[in-house]
Amino acid sequence: MTARKPYNSASVSRSGDIVATPKRILLLNGPNLNMLGVREPEIYGRDTLDDIRASCLSHAKEIGVEIDFRQSNSETELIAWIQQASADGIVVNPAAYAHTSIAILDALTLTGLPIVEVHLSNIFRREPFRRRSYVSPAARGVICGFGAHGYELAIDAMARLLERESE
Ligand code: DQA
Repeated sequence: MTARKPYNSASVSRSGDIVATPKRILLLNGPNLNMLGVREPEIYGRDTLDDIRASCLSHAKEIGVEIDFRQSNSETELIAWIQQASADGIVVNPAAYAHTSIAILDALTLTGLPIVEVHLSNIFRREPFRRRSYVSPAARGVICGFGAHGYELAIDAMARLLERESE
């Protein structure tokens, strides 16, 4: 049986063929997430960022979306990627910038794209300074506390909302 690809939308090519055009999701990771696996594994789990990238890409393939998966420790670089986003939506784990960066909030807002925010840990169960995310006002929804699985949940949520909005 072939895998169902519910998140492809179809368009008609010049030659009249029906062509599936997968939705594109830019998936951004902020500072210190490159250290996953060794960084406080009791909080963030033992998966490395490469493990998470691999599971995101394989999940994306299964559901028929395209993922551009990136990580940077630099706020400047993250903002440049957001401004240049060539995608239908953005999934972002802003990491510590969630708690500090109005600049990332502004960049996400100016894209006009749907945004889903994800955190590995449940930021509401942690120190008071983590309970506030400056980025959340730009997000359609926030997923946190489910570890690496949260990324798949975020991709599913984004794929579903892109599908709904293209109907
Ligand atoms: C995090 C939570 C943030 O508070 C922290 O600074 C991170 C990771 C998470 O995924 O749980 O770097 O975004």
